[in-house]
Amino acid sequence: MSALLSRRALLMRTACAGGALLCAGSAYSGVAHAASETAGQPFEFDEIALEPRAGDRLPIGYTRQVVIRWGDPLFADAPAFDVARLSPATARRQFGINNDYTAFLPLPLGSGSSDHGLLVVNHEYPNPQLMFPGLDVAGLAENITRDQVDICIAACGVSVVEVQRDAAGQWGVVQGGAYNRRITADTPIRISGPAAGHPRLRTAADPAGLWALGTHDNCNGGRTPWGTVLTCEEGSADFFAGHVDRHPDRALMERSHYEDSAHGRYGWARFHEHFDFDRHPNEPNRFEWVVEIDPFDPEAPPVKRTALGRFAHEGAHCALAADGRVVVYLGDDYEFEYCYRFTSQRPVDMQNRAANRDLLDDGVLAVARFDGDGTVHWLPLIWGQGPLTPENGFANQGDVLIETRRAADLLGATPMDSPEGFEPNPVTGHVYIALTGNGDRTEPNPANPRAANNHGHILEMIPPNGANGQPDHGADSFAWDVFILCGDPKNPQDQAQFHADTSRQGWFVEPDNIGFDPAGRLWVCSDGPGIRGHDGLWVMDTTGPKRGLPRLFYNPPIQSECCSPAFTPDGQTLFLSIQHPSERAANLAEVLTGWPDFAPGQPPRPAVIAIVRG
Ligand code: FEO
Ligand code: CA
Ligand code: CA
Repeated sequence: MSALLSRRALLMRTACAGGALLCAGSAYSGVAHAASETAGQPFEFDEIALEPRAGDRLPIGYTRQVVIRWGDPLFADAPAFDVARLSPATARRQFGINNDYTAFLPLPLGSGSSDHGLLVVNHEYPNPQLMFPGLDVAGLAENITRDQVDICIAACGVSVVEVQRDAAGQWGVVQGGAYNRRITADTPIRISGPAAGHPRLRTAADPAGLWALGTHDNCNGGRTPWGTVLTCEEGSADFFAGHVDRHPDRALMERSHYEDSAHGRYGWARFHEHFDFDRHPNEPNRFEWVVEIDPFDPEAPPVKRTALGRFAHEGAHCALAADGRVVVYLGDDYEFEYCYRFTSQRPVDMQNRAANRDLLDDGVLAVARFDGDGTVHWLPLIWGQGPLTPENGFANQGDVLIETRRAADLLGATPMDSPEGFEPNPVTGHVYIALTGNGDRTEPNPANPRAANNHGHILEMIPPNGANGQPDHGADSFAWDVFILCGDPKNPQDQAQFHADTSRQGWFVEPDNIGFDPAGRLWVCSDGPGIRGHDGLWVMDTTGPKRGLPRLFYNPPIQSECCSPAFTPDGQTLFLSIQHPSERAANLAEVLTGWPDFAPGQPPRPAVIAIVRG
């Protein structure tokens, strides 16, 4: 053990000296703050107003650049976007729709560069009614054409995009960049880990159960210390068609929130039979995993890492145990579902990137039980231990992972109010969990203290220090506390808990994605305007006299959601994903904004923006 610890200390020094992947404020933490202050100094700006508008708005002194939009060409041979000329072939060569998780990885790998890198971006789901003129949300699945379905399949998944900041400070895409890549909802994805090849993952098209077709519902994600990206499949029910009561494993389908559907929400099953679970009942089991992508190896197939469990994966943010093993924090974004943590069997090897290639295939998945004494215990989901036995329907570890939720039920995990952002602060090592809410809760528990939690809250977990004096993210138990209870501070019924100086614009509800700048400030995006009427991006300290004092920093365009605040290592650029502008319009004739370009005849386009000073 001591050899491991001193080895890790050496790796930390080496990595930081080289500006590589483990030091706070470097590639590992993302960060900074679009402001030039360093840790400990105040980050001042004039707070803006929260309001739904066709355009977006920032505090004075900051500007935003559009880095890339839905349909922008990634490859030299790809055409420019034109809503009148969409095709499946061009969609495969262009940036996808509904950008969500966004990671910045400096180029070259391990360099710590803040003006050149790769953006790895999720494309969560299509909005066909806002992609194809004439298509309405009413009757969408029945009316969508085969070409339109294939454009949607190509527009979902993940994009890898080389970006660069020029001498004038403008971020732009390197069209035709060597790493540029599209992974779509029909890209072959390898299945690895304990559930690979499991009989419940085998299908007619893949009798070995080792390759799935595509990834979809890619919500948030995470970066590993060795420079790969984890993309999270957050539920899959919308994409499939079939009858739940005819399914051989009806209970599992219901737990995954499948409902009877003739064509699936987007009509994909009308043209692609693997989305029909009446015909292919094991197909759904091949989704709702965490997928690892190596953006620095465009030839490497993405891999579904089954050791990280199967549920509505929101994000997969990494930290280190004191002995150098990698820890991945995993939230299951559904009401009454759980918070998980994966800990690898072996430590990360920062000297040999290839040695980490299958690190996420061996390790322990554990689920959180929050006790009223302020302790959170990590309960391991290990086949053969406790109730996870054949008597309870688990024949092997593959079964435990395919039915992660049922296994966690049996261990007595704490049911949560929809866990979304779940991420360690790179400066303090404390871990924050954003819970968007749970209007169906009738029985509070210590970590979800409000019945009918309509506004959400944020928890703080505090790992104990390990022998190296650093927070040990691999410890069996942590301390925890409530950090923020969302709601209107002026309405006693909401029982909100913010800093006493929180302004009229500063309070928020339904926290979703979170991120940290290099100074350790917490950035929070809301999802679901709720009683605020509009989503936004807020920033706050987690330590000092202004701990828990949020201020509104960015007001996105109407009916859009900000996702995934991600900083360059120097903190000078904040990348932000703006998803689904004007989402509640029934069709393109009724959209409320043309953001970001307001080009005549063209639709609003989800886009990744860069926020900088100036
Ligand atoms: Fe895709 Fe949990 O939001
Ligand atoms: Ca989310
Ligand atoms: Ca959400």
